[in-house]
Amino acid sequence: MAENMDKKTILVVDDDISTRKLIVDALNQAEDYTIREAEDGVKALETLQETHCDLIISDINMPGMDGMELLTRVREINPAIYVIMITGYPTIGLSVSAMKTGAVDFLTKPFDIDDLTYKVDVYLREQAILTEDTIKQKMDSAKLTDKIRELSTHSYIYDSLEKTGESNEYIFQEMVDMAMKVADGESCSVLLYDEESDEYYPQTIKSSTLKSYREKIIPSLKAIFNEVVQKKEALLFSSSDRPEVVSPVICAPLKIRNNVFGILSLSRRRSRVAFTEKDLNYILTLAKRASLNLENNILYESIYANLLDTFKSLIASIQVRDHYTEEHSRRVMNLAVKTAEAMKCSREDIESLKVACMLHDIGKIAIPDDTLLKPGKLTDEEYSVIKNHTVIGENILKPIVILDAERKIIRHHHERWDGRGYPDGLSGHDIPFLSRIISVADSFDAMTNNRPYRNAMDTEEALAELKRNSDTQFDKSIVDSFLDTLKKKR
Ligand SMILES: [Fe+2]
Repeated sequence: MAENMDKKTILVVDDDISTRKLIVDALNQAEDYTIREAEDGVKALETLQETHCDLIISDINMPGMDGMELLTRVREINPAIYVIMITGYPTIGLSVSAMKTGAVDFLTKPFDIDDLTYKVDVYLREQAILTEDTIKQKMDSAKLTDKIRELSTHSYIYDSLEKTGESNEYIFQEMVDMAMKVADGESCSVLLYDEESDEYYPQTIKSSTLKSYREKIIPSLKAIFNEVVQKKEALLFSSSDRPEVVSPVICAPLKIRNNVFGILSLSRRRSRVAFTEKDLNYILTLAKRASLNLENNILYESIYANLLDTFKSLIASIQVRDHYTEEHSRRVMNLAVKTAEAMKCSREDIESLKVACMLHDIGKIAIPDDTLLKPGKLTDEEYSVIKNHTVIGENILKPIVILDAERKIIRHHHERWDGRGYPDGLSGHDIPFLSRIISVADSFDAMTNNRPYRNAMDTEEALAELKRNSDTQFDKSIVDSFLDTLKKKR
């Protein structure tokens, strides 16, 4: 296979085959790199003569030419090549001398392979920004390098979160993993905050000392969590400014539309130095970016669920009064969702549709019994009162900002394709698509169940009725999909 010119080349040098393979396999997973291997310093230099390398990961203790000597030679040949050193026998003297000679990092075995691949990613980003000259001056201009590493880390956070999938669990997990990496912590957790009970519920926890972190550290931080929730800001604490803090900690609020729904908390061992402003900034970027990703999911899953719970008893009482079984809205929802899925609606649309179906007749709460429950034919005046339930429903939901989309769908669920429906007499494609779906599902369910003014039709009759009213009352394409879905079900 031809070598991809855009791919960065990484040389892995280690005499221990299993460690080499571990590193190579992990880097290969990223699919972004061309990987070379060498078993000692001499072989590594040979490889460097044949091919250009961007980054070298090298063991220190190797027979023949060891890692330190290789590092010195590499610096002479091409100082622009980044070198990460690894050793099983670390001493402060050794790591200082490796960094002085120009290694960009120094890891101790056994190392966390995720940590290594993360560092490789950040260093290569940094290298891409720096020119060869600035790399040569790198050791002198520590400040610039720091700044660039910082920027590279921020861009790493953004890119990584960009790639996350749709599930909340995955995003929470990714947040915790990344926080540990970018700000170098030992324990991290995402806690969801429940305002009513004023409690924090652990969602995801990662810690090398899980039991004591969960049972001691987290509970001891409650006052700090409260401060973060109240100030809506990320804060860092150490035992010097807060006696109850036994180990350094960073807490960032997780916010949706400026409402705090949780906390990201990162701790270091008590023996270690406090976090810095730079760490705080990484965590802040991470929390903000992840919150954005979570926003949609959380809105739909948790806030919607809460709201629906609130509305549930209300809906049940309307339905009982209206002589529908309690299951009416649920049946309409199931039929509508199946149709929407068959018509390839987006996930967001389907979530909106679910809520709108559950609440579509909520406006009936304001219709007097003698009108709503009248068995015989309605007068024009009574009919116009009934028709009001669409607009009343919309008004009931007005204060709830996050139900904007659903409110509109509810307003128009009695519009007709030919423009003779209510409340606005919209026609054709002017009627919101999801309202048109509800109209079909609602009519079908009404026809197949007993109503005050008539007995239930059987399914075949109801389906024929839908077909007969395609292009007048209903959108024909929706009726077609509805019939298909129902056929598949039977
Ligand atoms: Fe209705």
